[in-house]
Amino acid sequence: MTASREVRLKRRPEGMPVREDFELATIDVPAPEPGEVQVRNLWMAVDPAMRGRMSEARSYVPPFALDAAMEGPAIGRVVVSGDPAFAPGDVVWSRLGWREVFNAPASALKHRDCTVLPEQAHLGIGGTTGLTAWIGLLQIAALKPDDVVFVSAGSGGVGSIVCQIARLKGHRVIASAGGERKTAFLREVIGVDAAIDYKAEPNLTKALARVAPEGIDVYFDNVGGEHLHAALAIANAHARFALCGMISQYNTTDAPTAPRNLMQAVVKRIRMEGFIVLDHLHREREFLADVTGWYRDGLLKQAETVHAGIDHALDAFFGLFSGDNLGRMMVKLA
Ligand SMILES: NC(=O)c1ccc[n+]([C@@H]2O[C@H](COP(=O)([O-])OP(=O)(O)OC[C@H]3O[C@@H](n4cnc5c(N)ncnc54)[C@H](OP(=O)(O)O)[C@@H]3O)[C@@H](O)[C@H]2O)c1
Repeated sequence: MTASREVRLKRRPEGMPVREDFELATIDVPAPEPGEVQVRNLWMAVDPAMRGRMSEARSYVPPFALDAAMEGPAIGRVVVSGDPAFAPGDVVWSRLGWREVFNAPASALKHRDCTVLPEQAHLGIGGTTGLTAWIGLLQIAALKPDDVVFVSAGSGGVGSIVCQIARLKGHRVIASAGGERKTAFLREVIGVDAAIDYKAEPNLTKALARVAPEGIDVYFDNVGGEHLHAALAIANAHARFALCGMISQYNTTDAPTAPRNLMQAVVKRIRMEGFIVLDHLHREREFLADVTGWYRDGLLKQAETVHAGIDHALDAFFGLFSGDNLGRMMVKLA
């Protein structure tokens, strides 16, 4: 038996989740059965979408079960293998985050090559976060030469990758984030052309108009609400909006008050398309070839904020909603 700790959902949160909604449980993991593999997680990541799975509402993935370890992307190392496809020491990706050690059927694991990308980058630039940015910008928003790109939550996991891909393809990039520390990071590390501190701006539409006098052609929406309102107001004719997420609404219990100008989508013939990365996993190989090449050439950085230990996994999750992270929010488990 191997002792392991795991974070369980105890009850379904109302509004912003609180610590009492969860439990850190200690369990004994037995030796794996034939066909199973035992993995010690090295890294896990937290996603805003996990908030949705804590509720019972119907969505594109089932809700988390109560009194069971939650799920989420993780990178681990094989400890014992009961399947010939995996050997001790192999680095593997799974959806079995929020726990230290687990047994799983081999089908739940994917090998990860860490010769170019470091381990944790497979949860960031080389993981579904990177794929979300890549597919959203290049396929959903159908980035074209000379497009001016606006990205909300630009300093976060997805946003910081969207900004970098748009920059390396030669576009003018405007990003928003909360606070001076983040706007400095966007300008100095991520390399955007203009950064808006939305928390310091009384009127986001005016702020966007100020830094985008030529309008915007692509909006990558991670936030919704007032950000979407501002983007609709400033967009050029035939702009494309990739609707990736609307984090400003994930913990609210009231109806949204913005956008109030959806008619702009008609007047300007804007194409707005929502997307879910899980529908695009078949393009992973092509995406990884791009990302690995850009990383090797120094054109794409893995930006991350790291908490240490499973007992701080909830701090990482709560931090997504208070904006504590620069880049991908992760937890180092071993
Ligand atoms: N469609 C898909 O398949 C898919 C896949 C992955 C992620 N997503 C979505 O992509 C977005 C970013 O996800 P991520 O994992 O990269 O998270 P992230 O951007 O690394 O972290 C969340 C960030 O959102 C910002 N934020 C939090 N509350 C906010 C509010 N009320 N108003 C404005 N900004 C707020 C915070 O930054 P500030 O300090 O700047 O406010 C925070 O750092 C989320 O909407 C997520 O749901 C979608």
